[in-house]
Amino acid sequence: MEPWQKKHILGIKDLTREEMETIFKIAHSFRELSQREVKKAPALRGKTIVNLFFENSTRTKISFELAGKRLSADVLNFSSNMSSLNKGETIVDTIKNLESYHPDILVIRIGYSHSLINLSQYTSASIVNAGDGSNEHPTQCLLDMFTVQQEKGALEDLRVLIVGDIMHSRVARSNIFGFQKFNSRVSVCAPPTLIPYDFEKLGVEIHDDLDQALKEADVVIMLRIQKERQQESFFPSIREYVENFSLTPERLKKAKKDCLILHPGPVNWDVEISSQLKEIVHPLILKQVENGLAVRMAVLYLVGTRKREYEISD
Ligand code: NCD
Repeated sequence: MEPWQKKHILGIKDLTREEMETIFKIAHSFRELSQREVKKAPALRGKTIVNLFFENSTRTKISFELAGKRLSADVLNFSSNMSSLNKGETIVDTIKNLESYHPDILVIRIGYSHSLINLSQYTSASIVNAGDGSNEHPTQCLLDMFTVQQEKGALEDLRVLIVGDIMHSRVARSNIFGFQKFNSRVSVCAPPTLIPYDFEKLGVEIHDDLDQALKEADVVIMLRIQKERQQESFFPSIREYVENFSLTPERLKKAKKDCLILHPGPVNWDVEISSQLKEIVHPLILKQVENGLAVRMAVLYLVGTRKREYEISD
């Protein structure tokens, strides 16, 4: 493997296929580490990671925190709702202040799309994007693809269908870029009001009939309706949305037998997926969470040990 070069992980758009394969390979080793009795490696000993979450998060935040700890880094957690941001301090000042501690990696979740490249001017640390507005969520895509690779054996030539709130979803954008790099075909399915007008330019197929769209899919990614990002009504009612876009037992029958159903969480059961399918679909969704830890360990490891030869064997 080539030594890792990238200082920041800002989006899947900027990663090459080879870089993504490197992340998957390293994640594979870390998955094994997490199954051992002593689940810790000294790879990032002496490094400082700050998790800066300016937006709500449960699983991403926990997963990044544990990933840093499993690699023996010192991990600090910052949540905007309990910080001096409430006393009028700006995000830039917060980052400048943290710079006094010479952090090595800042993991940032923020409501503003595309803002991380600007914030990188105020720190010498690597920045890892944990979700920026409706732009990208690179580690979610990496964990989704890592899960698909494990289940299907390969990532090439698949038909991937993303269903739900495409307009507000950073997960959708990252997955479109990611799967396309492996020559898979991505389609989206949603009410027309939840599909950005220029999405065809991304080379995705657009559907508004879920029954039809499901038939050909090898992988289906169900998304949550992002109420917190919607300033207005994008569809008449939740009832109508559920009628047309919820994954129900009847609809699932239309899909291929080996079709994988993924969800980044949190799931609103009986909105995007019927709770009658919980027993069938929840195990894989929980596996995504487990894989998220390994993928985030891999990302932190690679940016944290950049320019050094790493010793994990192929
Ligand atoms: C996603 C997010 O925050 O973008 N969730 C996550 O990271 N686990 C998707 C969502 O909130 O629906």
